[in-house]
Amino acid sequence: MPKSVLVSNVLPGEALALIPRDVAVDYHDSLEALSRPDLIARLRGKDGLICHILSAIDDEVLAATPTLKVVANVAVGYNNIDVAAARRRGVVVTNTPDVLTETTADFAWALLMTSARRVLEADRFVRAGQWQRWRWDLLWGADVHGKTLGVVGFGRIGRAVARRAIGFNMRVLYQDAVRADAAVERELHATRADLEELLRESDFVSLHTPLLPETRHLMNARTLRLMKKSAILVNASRGPVVDEAALVQALQERWIAGAGLDVFEDEPKVNPGLIPLANVVLAPHIASASSDTRVAMAMLAVRNCLAVLDGKPPLTPVP
Ligand code: GLV
Repeated sequence: MPKSVLVSNVLPGEALALIPRDVAVDYHDSLEALSRPDLIARLRGKDGLICHILSAIDDEVLAATPTLKVVANVAVGYNNIDVAAARRRGVVVTNTPDVLTETTADFAWALLMTSARRVLEADRFVRAGQWQRWRWDLLWGADVHGKTLGVVGFGRIGRAVARRAIGFNMRVLYQDAVRADAAVERELHATRADLEELLRESDFVSLHTPLLPETRHLMNARTLRLMKKSAILVNASRGPVVDEAALVQALQERWIAGAGLDVFEDEPKVNPGLIPLANVVLAPHIASASSDTRVAMAMLAVRNCLAVLDGKPPLTPVP
């Protein structure tokens, strides 16, 4: 029997071209997610699935597709997949770490800088024709250099964010369940702190933790109130790490100065309270969206899928 794969959303041609001709590809060449019944129907009899985070792969989906051997997610985060259920059923799950680390860290910094220096407000001001003359008191923001950056979740992306802070001569605090090696702490000028200490001391707090039961609403009314009034929160991890309703209140009532958000609790819905606020920068989950990186992610996902179908270990199985 030839191997068969469902590609449940659009992928770049370079990635699709890696799939050998003897593998039958069922390609849903679309940006829209397949409906759940369509996903289940098209997965029947397939050996592999290459999917975006739009596809929810839970136990019911897996139960309906007993031939499935591998789910290759085109993302580093994999909270759209019930990994425990997949393991029970002998289905390998892979993700796309490393290839997106630097691009995602760049974007976290873009949110940080845009928020600190009020770049969107400046842009809107100019476009609205409000710029009459040079003004001493116009759009004062916050300095970034020399300040304290708090990194919550000190994995690959958190460390890449911290590395960029060296150039800004910043002090870095990090919070993680595991302490980094002393050499890494030295190299990144980073000191481990507990969450409360980090929130109290940081001028910028950047979230890089996976979404887990223990990180859901890690930032909530209580923890947001621990932050400095002048601090800025950046989230390029997963939306539910932040209690969005509490964040709206924090921004409206100025418990904190601002936020830069790439992810939301119920994407693509955005809490309507965020929309009118000038002190928040909103982006539609694009932190890894550079042309090079999106292609690299897709190619890695395809390679992972093909490796498993060939009976080889995947390149990047989820931990
Ligand atoms: C994107 O959100 C990813 O997890 O890669």
